[in-house]
Amino acid sequence: MKIKSICCIGAGYVGGPTMAVIAKNNPHLKITIVDINQARIDAWNDVDVSKLPIYEPGLADIVKETRGKNLFFSTDIDAAIDEAEMIFISVNTPTKTYGKGKGMAADLKYIELCARNIANVAKTDKIVVEKSTLPVRTAEAIKSILHNTGNNINFHILSNPEFLAEGTAIEDLLNPDRVLIGGECEEAIEALANIYSSWVADDRILRTNLWSSELSKLTANAFLAQRISSINSISELCELTGANVNEVAKAIGMDSRIGSKFLKASVGFGGSCFQKDILNLVYIARSYGLTEVADYWEQVIIMNDHQKRRFSDRLIKTLYNTVSGKKIALLGWAFKKDTNDTRESAAIYVADHLLNEQANISVFDPKVPHTKVQTDLNYLNTRSEAENESGAISVDSAYEAANDAHAIAIMTEWDEFKTYDWKTIYSKMKKPAFIFDGRNILDKSEMENIGFDYYSIGQ
Ligand code: UDX
Ligand code: ADP
Repeated sequence: MKIKSICCIGAGYVGGPTMAVIAKNNPHLKITIVDINQARIDAWNDVDVSKLPIYEPGLADIVKETRGKNLFFSTDIDAAIDEAEMIFISVNTPTKTYGKGKGMAADLKYIELCARNIANVAKTDKIVVEKSTLPVRTAEAIKSILHNTGNNINFHILSNPEFLAEGTAIEDLLNPDRVLIGGECEEAIEALANIYSSWVADDRILRTNLWSSELSKLTANAFLAQRISSINSISELCELTGANVNEVAKAIGMDSRIGSKFLKASVGFGGSCFQKDILNLVYIARSYGLTEVADYWEQVIIMNDHQKRRFSDRLIKTLYNTVSGKKIALLGWAFKKDTNDTRESAAIYVADHLLNEQANISVFDPKVPHTKVQTDLNYLNTRSEAENESGAISVDSAYEAANDAHAIAIMTEWDEFKTYDWKTIYSKMKKPAFIFDGRNILDKSEMENIGFDYYSIGQ
């Protein structure tokens, strides 16, 4: 079966870049990305591609090349579903904030809404592809909704988890380590494999059953996050023993069985996936009565929370046990460099801890809009919106953030931070001037020569 028309529901960090790359490599395929969020769709359609709703290196060029030719953005969800032979579901699946499984399970209400929408609109057979990360056996729920519509339409469900990392999404999509397709119907699996095969070698396209595919995505993220929590746990030991975590990471990473990637100690991992997926894994394991399995993976999250807390505690302790009324500059608000995404960013939690101690926070991030700082803090529900507004502001430059600050905390590893004139920054700050480098991106002796009291992770 050769697919001619695709609809992707959800124009976010996964749906947008993924469909843009599929469109670029399949010029004869018509792809419509739909979303309920009109402002987001308008931004995707903006003639000025610097205004796209998500920042991702290389994305704007591909959108410019494909948009209006075979890639379209629309809020007319029903029309796009009706026309498509294959529908990707790429909506958000946040952790539940209410009811059973609160704080642990994935909230599947957006997925279910999509399934019901497809069931209502479809007049012809469809292949439905799960793209969002979902708990194992979600495909079964989707299947059950679709197959109970009574209109004799055949739906084939595939799981095709996305492994792209933000900030390198385009590169990851163009050169994937593997593409994973889980399903029950060989014809449907091959229809999707055929789309990828226009730029991915066939031996990199894995075919599995549905449940293996769903579980592989959760497991991959759990393993990656586990590496970060492991090295972060060692960073605390390094700070007390005189070992240097960068040296330890290098030494163990040269063992080819361990490998060198994902061993950067940091203020803690963030992003929309790691915490959510592990909580999901823990929740599933608990629901099957697998207490030891659940506890094992939960420890990865506990360690990550500890790392964030430890970072702010160390800052407060070093500043003579009080930050009350002191200006603290946070450089970086995104959860990693080269993205404007802030979901679960360590910066939010560090800011929250410092606000609890009555610090005045000044944030600078090269790509995150000013208003996001307030929205993210308000989302935590720790204090009133007015208190967040008076406690934290977002400014236009690092130099402005550092002006009269007692300390700088580096939250994101943006490359531009390394290029700053740190002597000027030092001259603007209160003395002694402290740097807490949550990403180990600056040179310790260089900073100390300028006059800074420099603290990094695991050294
Ligand atoms: C992750 C997975 O990498 C990707 O395969 C999956 O599809 C989605 O989740 P993402 O969250 O976009 O991708 O970014 P990633 O590069 O994995 O970084 C996640 C967090 O870990 C960031 O906060 C990053 O700064 C942190 N990190 C990463 C470290 O602290 N140390 C490291 O060595 C690597
Ligand atoms: P991800 O990182 O998984 O791509 P995002 O939050 O960036 O997550 O994107 C998900 C998108 O899905 C959002 O733009 C949201 O508006 C959209 N969405 C959620 N529910 C629906 C729905 N029922 N129909 C269409 N779009 C939806």
